[in-house]
Amino acid sequence: MLSQLFVALSLVAFTAASPVVIRNSPVTLPLARRFNTNSGHTIAEIDQSRAKALKAAVSPAAGNGSGVNPVPVTSSTVIYTAEVLIGSPPQTFNLIVDTGSSNTWVGANPSNPYVPTASSVNTTDIILIEYGSGLFAGLEYNDTVALGDLSITNQTIGVAQFALGSFSSEGVDGILGIGPADLTQSTTASGDEIPTITDNAWALGLLEEYEVGISFEPSTNSSDANGQLTFGGVDNSKFNGSITYVPITSTAPASGYVGIEQSVTYGSSNVPILEFTSGIVDTGTTMLVIASDAFATYQNLTGAVLDNTTGLLKITPAQYDNLESLFFNIGGETFELTKNAQIWPRSLNSAIGGDADSIYLIVSNLGTPSGEGLDFINGYGFLQRFYAVYDTVNSRVGFATTPFTFAETN
Ligand SMILES: *[C@@H]1O[C@H](CO)[C@@H](O)[C@H](O)[C@H]1NC(C)=O
Ligand SMILES: *[C@@H]1O[C@H](CO)[C@@H](O)[C@H](O)[C@H]1NC(C)=O
Ligand SMILES: *[C@@H]1O[C@H](CO)[C@@H](O)[C@H](O)[C@H]1NC(C)=O
Ligand SMILES: *[C@@H]1O[C@H](CO)[C@@H](O)[C@H](O)[C@H]1NC(C)=O
Ligand SMILES: *[C@@H]1O[C@H](CO)[C@@H](O)[C@H](O)[C@H]1NC(C)=O
Ligand SMILES: *[C@@H]1O[C@H](CO)[C@@H](O)[C@H](O)[C@H]1NC(C)=O
Ligand SMILES: *[C@@H]1O[C@H](CO)[C@@H](O)[C@H](O)[C@H]1NC(C)=O
Ligand SMILES: *[C@@H]1O[C@H](CO)[C@@H](O)[C@H](O)[C@H]1NC(C)=O
Repeated sequence: MLSQLFVALSLVAFTAASPVVIRNSPVTLPLARRFNTNSGHTIAEIDQSRAKALKAAVSPAAGNGSGVNPVPVTSSTVIYTAEVLIGSPPQTFNLIVDTGSSNTWVGANPSNPYVPTASSVNTTDIILIEYGSGLFAGLEYNDTVALGDLSITNQTIGVAQFALGSFSSEGVDGILGIGPADLTQSTTASGDEIPTITDNAWALGLLEEYEVGISFEPSTNSSDANGQLTFGGVDNSKFNGSITYVPITSTAPASGYVGIEQSVTYGSSNVPILEFTSGIVDTGTTMLVIASDAFATYQNLTGAVLDNTTGLLKITPAQYDNLESLFFNIGGETFELTKNAQIWPRSLNSAIGGDADSIYLIVSNLGTPSGEGLDFINGYGFLQRFYAVYDTVNSRVGFATTPFTFAETN
């Protein structure tokens, strides 16, 4: 018995010492939530301009993500940043986590410039990304990038020499783009596709699965660090039940992003809001954004009025009592967004310019009609109630319910 155990142990030791690639367990990376309220635009306008830029960046005529510029998150109201260490010795950067773009770059914050170290390699390639109302230009470096327990050598990152635009949130150094690598094509002078952090971590054998798990939680407070990325797997403690997977949609422009297909109905009588159509999952959008026709139907059903100050729909307490769930049909599974999940946290009303006692809805207007290939954005308002997985290798996206799906938080 004992000798058998000994043989088993020495086998383990032998295996561990042999030069095989040992893939790590999934690596979790905590995200800090930042609340950005000094952009000078309403929360609805900000989401709408990002939506417009995302739609324009991948033109339906191209049929795929080639030859386009990605759209970094700039002044989104709710942003999540990851602490990323670059170089040796490592320098710390706080980067916005963005599934809607795929370049990783630093240098947005003049008080924390990138300083080349022993591990920096100047690739001499020039990067230029234009977005909404600004641009960033700089040089591509290869460097060692560490996220949590992951250390990725030869990660190509952009180092901004100048960045114009509204990186108005203090302490934000740039973007961690974790969308499809196709989005990086033609962002540099060489035109080469640049592997993302996930791509390189996988290529280096550091990940068990070629995927990223995304977890956010509802919060009624502006400084709650309650987001998490999991590289190389999913975090079973963040969701319950099973994960429903759907393929990345083939309809452009949603197909260029973490794009899916879904339909949305309202209430127990299942009034159609949005017919089965394509759109995207996006960590850089604050609200749940739907096409203008769907939005009009939703406004009608809820009786909400558009509030000038916040740009959001506003309802009375009586209308809140009557508010019903939205039902998302994704991959044949129904995901219920409760009425509590459809309202902006009241304790944060003043932060978006609203009245402390009003009830604002997080369902927002895309500003363009459905049928244009990107008819919804499941932003943070959706993601704080459902776990999401971007399964890169299988080109699919998964969703699961969480302990917060039905929580009364707002
Ligand atoms: C995108 O489409 C163009 C033209 O149709 C094609 O040449 C290119 O290979 C496609 N790229 C991808 C990544 O599918
Ligand atoms: C990187 O290479 C480019 C092109 O050769 C050069 O202009 C630039 O000065 C280099 N940067 C540094 C920091 O050496
Ligand atoms: C930079 O890293 C990429 C892999 O991410 C590699 O293909 C490329 O050759 C590297 N460039 C230099 C100059 O080392
Ligand atoms: C980066 O990639 C280049 C080209 O493949 C290679 O020559 C170099 O050794 C790599 N550097 C590291 C640190 O892995
Ligand atoms: C916000 O949430 C964090 C974490 O839950 C907590 O530590 C902090 O006290 C809260 N702040 C306010 C103002 O409620
Ligand atoms: C809104 O409701 C009114 C009255 O029921 C109806 O006439 C109108 O067509 C509805 N509009 C939409 C966009 O559903
Ligand atoms: C909302 O804004 C528009 C244009 O600025 C203005 O004409 C309208 O009177 C405002 N409505 C309310 C209810 O304040
Ligand atoms: C998920 O977790 C919540 C709270 O922990 C629980 O109420 C719910 O029943 C769970 N759902 C499933 C499908 O396990």
